[in-house]
Amino acid sequence: MDRPMRVAVTGAAGQIGYSLLPRIAAGEIFGKDQPVILQCLEIPPVMKALEGVAMELDDGAFPLLEDIVLSDDPKVAFKDADLCLLVGSKPRGKGMERKDLIRENGPIFVSQGAAIQAVAGSEVRVVVIGNPCNTNCLITMANAPDIPRDRFSAMTQLDHNRAQSAIAKKAGVQSRDVRNVIIWGNHSSTQYPDWHHAMVKDKPASELIEESWFRETFIPHVQKRGAEIIAARGHSSAMSAANAAIEHARKLYQGTPKDRWTSMAIPSTGNYGIPEGLICSVPVTCDGSGTPTPVLDVEMNDFSRERLQASVNELIEERDTVSDLLG
Ligand code: NAD
Ligand code: LMR
Repeated sequence: MDRPMRVAVTGAAGQIGYSLLPRIAAGEIFGKDQPVILQCLEIPPVMKALEGVAMELDDGAFPLLEDIVLSDDPKVAFKDADLCLLVGSKPRGKGMERKDLIRENGPIFVSQGAAIQAVAGSEVRVVVIGNPCNTNCLITMANAPDIPRDRFSAMTQLDHNRAQSAIAKKAGVQSRDVRNVIIWGNHSSTQYPDWHHAMVKDKPASELIEESWFRETFIPHVQKRGAEIIAARGHSSAMSAANAAIEHARKLYQGTPKDRWTSMAIPSTGNYGIPEGLICSVPVTCDGSGTPTPVLDVEMNDFSRERLQASVNELIEERDTVSDLLG
């Protein structure tokens, strides 16, 4: 057995945390031979509830779970962490956009970025899930300037999965039969789910499904799915979000299958006209090293370019709104 991987999870007693922790403990990120230590961060009023979650983890008798650390101090929770999953933050309610959370949630990521830089492991990877996740990731990265930028990402895997599932339903196949959808831009209602390169089994999705469905039904479905779930459940998505977080992290450490892309919001290096440094969702592949590689040669028509630009414009606005938090 290898040395245990230390996974810090913030907001560990929240809705997503409750679905996420047992799956990490069960070995779903690093594989079934890799022990883990869970390092859980919460705010002081929620520590009691976190203790209850830890009791349940104990009662799971997970063979790979070597230890559980509980703390309300980021410097304890991030100590020597190999992977930090930053979930802890307020979710939006009915009628809100995710960016309405920015002034309330943004400051959380200032102190957490600084703490990660101060105490995390030398190979740390940081995945931001708390909304608005692209800009919160930007804030975290800006406050941890000594950590290489390519260690940071924000989660658009849930949007990617929503897009894949919607195409599968429409085409009458299983979601595993659909590959290479792309989520471009922000994890927000301006995101652009791109079907132009998606394949359904061995056929382009665009040959099987009419263009008008993609433009009029598919795009708004994926863009507004989070709000649809809030309206139905009274709470934002949690189980599917935890599932996506597991998938995002598993792809970082175990790689993407040979002929498949996934989508991750990563620091732009200026490709596709995305300003350098913005945390923008693009297609990526992963080789299992913990660092995603953007796919750089995707053809984009005028429609796709316009849609991406609209989402990039929103990311620029969000960045300007938090300029005081960027170090
Ligand atoms: P929740 O309210 O159930 O849980 C959030 C937890 O974070 C709470 O237990 C709270 O005490 C804790 N917390 C708040 N501030 C903290 C801090 N400074 N340090 C540590 N913990 C802190 O919310 P949830 O449903 O688990 O959602 C969490 C976040 O994830 C929200 O911002 C939500 O919008 C976001 N989210 C993102 C995606 C995505 O696809 N990127 C999907 C779903 C939800
Ligand atoms: C989602 O996409 O379900 C989450 O970001 C929660 C939300 O606010 O929509």
